[in-house]
Amino acid sequence: MKIIFATQNRGKVQEVKAIFDGSQFEIISLYDLGNNMDVEETGATFSENAFLKAKAVYDHYKEPVLADDSGLMIEQLDGRPGVISARYAGENCTYEDNNLKVIEELLELPEPHKAKFVSTAIFYDGKNTFEAAGELHGIIIKEQRGTNGFGYDPVFIPDGYEKTISELDFEEKNKISHRAKSFEKLKEILTQKNL
Ligand code: IMP
Repeated sequence: MKIIFATQNRGKVQEVKAIFDGSQFEIISLYDLGNNMDVEETGATFSENAFLKAKAVYDHYKEPVLADDSGLMIEQLDGRPGVISARYAGENCTYEDNNLKVIEELLELPEPHKAKFVSTAIFYDGKNTFEAAGELHGIIIKEQRGTNGFGYDPVFIPDGYEKTISELDFEEKNKISHRAKSFEKLKEILTQKNL
């Protein structure tokens, strides 16, 4: 079955394609389709935003869709950046702008800076909606290290590791990440439903 993944984020595309590789599902992203439609993320939760993206892309293509909404939640910042992780330092900001903003906000606060990445993954085909969530726990460090991955990866060290996600290779990230967990669960659900 062909499924459109409602994202232009190349980091996410690479991760999710690897998860569905070898399954009965063929993943084609908005990036592959050259479609840069922008869905306003007006929801208050990851789940609401994931559904908004899935529904907008389904309404456009009338094909089964996968979407996720994800972000970073830092304990000492009361769960921020949360649902506004992508635009924490302002509209059109870079990943680096966001990392520097988080580092600055944590400067005066005692270590460790506990945090988690969360992902809600959704499948929607106009009839069925299936949803699964995943988390990755760790700490934020106050310098950026490594060049792999995207977003907050250079400042996040997963529990049990000494390297930031940006210092891990792609396969390692894709074994432990929040997105790997949510999409693995969703893949299980879709396989069982025999869609
Ligand atoms: P979304 O595209 O609306 O789900 O926004 C996700 C944002 O959360 C990204 O732009 C990143 O800032 C952050 N984020 C989500 N997943 C990851 C990850 O795996 N690594 C680093 N940052 C992430």
